[in-house]
Amino acid sequence: MPEIFNRKQEHLDICLTQDVSSRTRTGLEDYRFGNRALPGCDLSQVTCWTTFLDKPIAAPLLVGPMTGGTARGREINRNLAAAAAALKIGMIVGSQRIAIEYPEVAHTFAIVREEAPDIPIGANLGAIQLVNGFGVKECQKAIRMIEADFLVLHLNPLQEALQPQGQTNWHQVLRRLTEVISDVSVPVVVKETGFGLSGQDAAELREAGAAILDVAGAGGTSFALVEGYRHPDAMWKKVALAFSDWGLPTAESIRQCRKAVPEVPLIASGGIRNGIDVAKALALGASWCSVTGGLLAAASESVDAAQEWLDSLVQELRLAMFAAGVQAVSELNSGLLLPARPE
Ligand SMILES: Cc1cc2nc3c(=O)[nH]c(=O)nc-3n(C[C@H](O)[C@H](O)[C@H](O)COP(=O)(O)O)c2cc1C
Repeated sequence: MPEIFNRKQEHLDICLTQDVSSRTRTGLEDYRFGNRALPGCDLSQVTCWTTFLDKPIAAPLLVGPMTGGTARGREINRNLAAAAAALKIGMIVGSQRIAIEYPEVAHTFAIVREEAPDIPIGANLGAIQLVNGFGVKECQKAIRMIEADFLVLHLNPLQEALQPQGQTNWHQVLRRLTEVISDVSVPVVVKETGFGLSGQDAAELREAGAAILDVAGAGGTSFALVEGYRHPDAMWKKVALAFSDWGLPTAESIRQCRKAVPEVPLIASGGIRNGIDVAKALALGASWCSVTGGLLAAASESVDAAQEWLDSLVQELRLAMFAAGVQAVSELNSGLLLPARPE
């Protein structure tokens, strides 16, 4: 079996059976909302509805990119898509490189659009592939495969460096991003994969033409830990584990990106575990949140389990807004946040 299939399978197995939580925190724990004893509004009128790239969504939430390519990946994608469709939120599929190289597994991604005809759906490829033979043609294939509304390109240099045959020449990646972004048919989101985008990254990606940035900060799934568990070589396991607390915590990454590119809309992700985290990330300046590792176990179980997990986030967000005295997600702002421990 080609290596890429084993890698996909091992990523799922490791994330489901090992503790792969970053040894750093998201930094969202350092904030709390001031409670309103007189919220001045009716909970039934508190609304989480917003839009993503002009499509209405019932909450500022996207299922983050996770899987595809294998029978198990197809099942998880089906569960995620059905749950996202039921809740009317967005979804991004896992990297589609496997289906570009082996078109016979395209159905493991296409199932997402079949299950969720109306929600915003993002295609996904690794930006490093743009210097290894992929270009606009492959991006358009990925978009067509799932009738995507947008394309997500992920940046994972440290993860690649911790893989036995990882791709580590990142010289021309920004130049290739700029070329491809200007030529693809849909808006492009650029994301990290759990170590965070810095303010400098954000400024460079704005110049490259990214429509939206996903900070994918540290504090949730750590791909240093994931690759450490997979690595066949004991010395490299040790090297990978040394990076278990690496990365810009999600809250810090939001702050840096917000400051560097105030006009570029942000998705916050990395360690988002409940709706209060979502409310805090939005108050810090993100427009949406995406969730990945925290959802995987439920998504492997059933549509109902995935839907229940995601719905709990929506309800927590709604109640946090009510208790903070706001009725619409656009009203969440940093003035509502206090330090978790007063100085
Ligand atoms: C099993 C698994 C597979 C992933 N595969 C992808 C992928 O194919 N493409 C991508 O952009 N990110 C991928 N990610 C990274 C996540 O989208 C996300 O950026 C990262 O896990 C941090 O978010 P979290 O703490 O909510 O998990 C994957 C994450 C997990 C847990």
